[in-house]
Amino acid sequence: MINRRTISALLAGAAVSSACTIPTEPLDNNIAYPFRAQVQNATRLEVHNQYLNLLVAGGGDHHLFIGPVGVPTYDLTLVDGVVNHVPNGVRLVIGGEFSEIDHTTKLFSTGRGDDRAIFEPTYGCNPDTDELQIELQFVTWQNHPTGGHICVRHAFDGSHEFRYSPPGNTLIDVNRECIKVTLVVIPTTDLPPPSSSTTLSTVTIPATSTSAAPTPTGTPTEAFTDLTASGYRFLGCAPEERWANDGPFRTLSGASEASADAMTNERCLAFCESQGFAYAGTEWRQECWCGNEVADTRVPATTLASLAACDHVCTGDPTQFCGGDAWLSLYQKCAEGEACENVAFT
Ligand SMILES: *[C@@H]1O[C@H](CO)[C@@H](O)[C@H](O)[C@H]1NC(C)=O
Repeated sequence: MINRRTISALLAGAAVSSACTIPTEPLDNNIAYPFRAQVQNATRLEVHNQYLNLLVAGGGDHHLFIGPVGVPTYDLTLVDGVVNHVPNGVRLVIGGEFSEIDHTTKLFSTGRGDDRAIFEPTYGCNPDTDELQIELQFVTWQNHPTGGHICVRHAFDGSHEFRYSPPGNTLIDVNRECIKVTLVVIPTTDLPPPSSSTTLSTVTIPATSTSAAPTPTGTPTEAFTDLTASGYRFLGCAPEERWANDGPFRTLSGASEASADAMTNERCLAFCESQGFAYAGTEWRQECWCGNEVADTRVPATTLASLAACDHVCTGDPTQFCGGDAWLSLYQKCAEGEACENVAFT
């Protein structure tokens, strides 16, 4: 009798019998031709067939994303099992941002000497087309046990970030499961070079304004905007969950607004004050977030270097910084009668 189980067994059998033919000769662990890295997991369509993007981070690092965040990269190479991006002088490494919740660790790219992710090129069959493809099988994290896998976890603005999951790990962060993925080599020799116009931001700062008020021109000369005269102190550049690696997602979760062409720190302060909040933070050029408390793990550092992460120019004033990529330029309303001073950065 043909029932549902029989049909799925037949289908499974058909899938196996039509699998592509895998060549027997081993692949070299160097790939000199430029390639893109594609992510595959045919049961997870939200990530399946997307490509690895690079996003500039602090210290010359580039972080890895799929989705709308980051810049497509067409010219990866493999050197002794390590994925390199020569134009940026970076290679794929693992380290940092260990999550207590799902025990994953960040996979990113850097020119520094962090322990590298080691891959082995292997043949596989494309789950959609059944064509032969070259996959980067994850072998080990240098100086760590062999095994484990690469996965992608929901990050911000609809993106996923790359993580490493250690061997035997069964922990899952229920709020953002790290989806196991296969990395696939897509040669780009016959594709046009990447366009220089592929930038990560969808926000453009208007060169001229049609409004009555003159558009400020110039570039920021100060690392932050001094608004003590308006009764707010600058606290520093505060991490969102992505960098603090704890919960909840937002550092300031009270109220928010965004403006693609008119965000400034003054505007954000006024907005949060009008909503009755004591803290205000700008982010990602155009966003304003408000709250009444800042968790210990989100309190900004007081080093000058820490301010570098808040380097996104405000959409409403090119002389100010409005946070960064999941970083807030954080201000606090000064209490009545107290001296209103910015935090001292050293
Ligand atoms: C797809 O992701 C799920 C969740 O991580 C995982 O259990 C499954 O093995 C993955 N499938 C492939 C083909 O990697």
